[in-house]
Amino acid sequence: MDFVLHKKDAFSKARAGEITTDHGKIETPVFMPVGTVGSVKGIHVRDLEQEVRARIILGNTYHLYLRPGIDVLRKAGGLHKFNGWGKPILTDSGGFQVFSLSHRRKLKEEGAEFQSHIDGSKHIFTPENVVDIQRVIGADIIMAFDECPPGDSDFNYAKKSMELTHRWLLRGIERFDSTEPLYDYGQTFFPIVQGAGFPDLRRQSAEFIANQNREGNAIGGLAVGEPEEVMYEMIQVVNEILPEDKPRYLMGVGTPANILEAISLGVDMFDCVMPTRNGRNGMLFTSKGIINIRNEKWKDDFSPIDPDGNSAFDLIYSKAYLRHLFIAGEMLGPQIASIHNLSFYMWLVDEARRQINQGTFFEWKEQMVKQLKVRL
Ligand code: GUN
Repeated sequence: MDFVLHKKDAFSKARAGEITTDHGKIETPVFMPVGTVGSVKGIHVRDLEQEVRARIILGNTYHLYLRPGIDVLRKAGGLHKFNGWGKPILTDSGGFQVFSLSHRRKLKEEGAEFQSHIDGSKHIFTPENVVDIQRVIGADIIMAFDECPPGDSDFNYAKKSMELTHRWLLRGIERFDSTEPLYDYGQTFFPIVQGAGFPDLRRQSAEFIANQNREGNAIGGLAVGEPEEVMYEMIQVVNEILPEDKPRYLMGVGTPANILEAISLGVDMFDCVMPTRNGRNGMLFTSKGIINIRNEKWKDDFSPIDPDGNSAFDLIYSKAYLRHLFIAGEMLGPQIASIHNLSFYMWLVDEARRQINQGTFFEWKEQMVKQLKVRL
């Protein structure tokens, strides 16, 4: 993997750059649609490429390990061949999902024991076996196994958790560096900064992570219930330490406004379920504000879903028709809304990059953040 910085903003920490992987180039800032079980819910790969214009998607070790399982993925020749997506894939390591989804989880030095949320079967994830599983999935970017403590963790818990994440990181690196890809392309490994809402811990963690000198670095443990100002402060503290010449990935964030603020603090990569999950519930993000498409007010509004939208569906279908699909419980409704929201998120990061490159990012961001919060 390779990362080149093209431009740094003069009025903020925002950057425009480009990551090169064996599955193609990714211009940054970038948003990665979430494909938990290998599919971005309800969206064909053709629409992901042509309408959403996604450049990299995210998969989940926890879900893929439980279903379809690593034997099937190995036989398929990896996730790219299994799901038909030819561009880069990043997989989350499973730590976050074990703590949020599985039953009877037990944290040990060795790793995390858990019971499947599907059938109650018992498993263990260790820093080593999640590397092995991500090798089989064939992710271009493999994430370290970490513990993401709750947003309201006290200092002692957050410190112990961070130290465990650091010990796990060294074990993960050792496994990654002593194994080879199973398929005919390269893979890289990103460590994750933790430290909850405590600047001192965040600094300590960022230094530990930076010292590992990997090709990219992630910031975890944010947007987990802490106030937004705390999240921004933690990003700022961490980004002062993470190297400038490596991509920075903020995990699981966020609203369109969160993404713009984080870009201005120097973040390059994002993923979040919000565009798809909220889309499935009828919430549309647009450059003029938020639409609840189930609202009575759209009943006979035959204007396009989003006249400024980038996807063909934004113009083909009207608000009134999309509302009708939602009210009638048609599966086409959530599909159109998901494609709209993802293509909006892609527009947002693409436009941010364009504004950075032409030197107008900060002003644009300030205005946009206000607009994005409007309820239409
Ligand atoms: N997704 C969102 N936050 C996190 C985190 O802290 N760790 C991991 N592994 N995934 C995440």
